[in-house]
Parts: sequence; structure tokens; C-alpha cells
Amino acid sequence: MFLTFEGVDWSGKSTQAELLAGWLREQGRTVLSTREPGGTPVGEAVRDVVLHGDEMTPWAEAALYAAARAEHVERALRPALDRGEDVVCDRYIESSVAYQGGARGLGIERVLELNLMVTRGLVPDRTFLVLLDPAEARRRGAGRLDRIEREGDEFMRLVDEAYRSLAAASPERIVALDGARAPEEIAEEVREHVRALL
Ligand code: TYD
Repeated sequence: MFLTFEGVDWSGKSTQAELLAGWLREQGRTVLSTREPGGTPVGEAVRDVVLHGDEMTPWAEAALYAAARAEHVERALRPALDRGEDVVCDRYIESSVAYQGGARGLGIERVLELNLMVTRGLVPDRTFLVLLDPAEARRRGAGRLDRIEREGDEFMRLVDEAYRSLAAASPERIVALDGARAPEEIAEEVREHVRALL
């Protein structure tokens, strides 16, 4: 199974990705638990540039995330899936579509097309979208902000809006979850969906 987690910054999606990977391992499954951007040497280098580097044009940003994703898919995700392992990935294509396509204004369709090209069409079995009001999510955020997080409230509102429209367009694959609940409650709902795939 290929399962991904999505959501605005501080939505709690990373906690959910970890909880699900742990539960799958308890079921005796072998799980590759990974994140984007990252998961390969080139991917981690790209992560450093996009999150902590200088300002860049929106298409440069989209292309860098796509480059990291291309590496990740070919070197880590496809090999793991081919070995029969499960993959749980914290962020994937919908992050680029929502952040670069939606919030940066590059266009949902164009960014989706770019990402389907660079991944050779590798689409998750299920994508869990942790929904949380961006203002509430912002209140959870603390400490030093990276380059994307510094974009502020209006940007995160646009990301949230794009995510919601993606979920509405693919209800059979994208599972929208109410992220305002306790983590364990959300995790149980995720497990229910995954049990149905086992
Ligand atoms: P994330 O790993 O969730 O951040 P953190 O480690 O701080 O919790 O994601 C990194 C940031 O990159 C996040 O602000 C979303 C952004 N991002 C995109 O804009 N497009 C993408 O394709 C991806 C994968 C992430």
C-alpha cells in the first residue's frame, strides 16, 4: 500500500503519519516511513534550499519540489513498493498542487501535470488530508519558521482552500479528516480506512 498524509503546516499530519506507520508495523508489515521534500541525498539537499535558502520564483520552487519527488519515487518509493512493502509518506503530490499550484498561483492543473510526469504517474492508494482551520494551525506553530511558513496567514488560507477542493474532486482517494480532534481519535479513523484496504 502507498499511503500519504497532507495538510497545512502544523495540522498534525506528521504525527498521524508516524502513528499509522507504527500501527502497520505492529500488524507485522514492513513499512517505509518517509517524507517530502527529502528521503534521498538529493531530496534532503533540495529541502535545505527550498526551506532555508534565498527567495526564488514560483516555478523554480515547484521544479525543485518536483526534482526531489522524482528522486524519491525512483530511488525509494517504487523500490519499496516493488519489494511488497508499505510506504507511508508525509506529503506528496497534493502538497505541490496546493502550495505551488494553488497558493502560489501556478495553477492546479499545470502543477499536477508536472508532478504526474516526474513521478511517472505514481498515485497513492489513499491520501489522508488532515483539515484544520489555518488560523488554529498557526496558533499551534512555534519556534523558527522556514521560508514557506513565513508566507503567513493568507498564504496558508489559500493552501487550505486548494486542499479542500482537491479532496472534493477525488473523494474516492482523498480522505478528509477533522484535525481539530484528539490525535488518537484521528488515528483510529485513519486505521479504519486502512483496514478496509488490507
Ligand atoms: P514539512 O515537512 O511539513 O515541514 P516541517 O518539517 O517544518 O514540518 O514541509 C515542508 C514545507 O514545504 C511545508 O511548508 C510545505 C512545503 N511544501 C511545498 O510547498 N510543496 C511541496 O511539494 C512539499 C512536499 C512541501
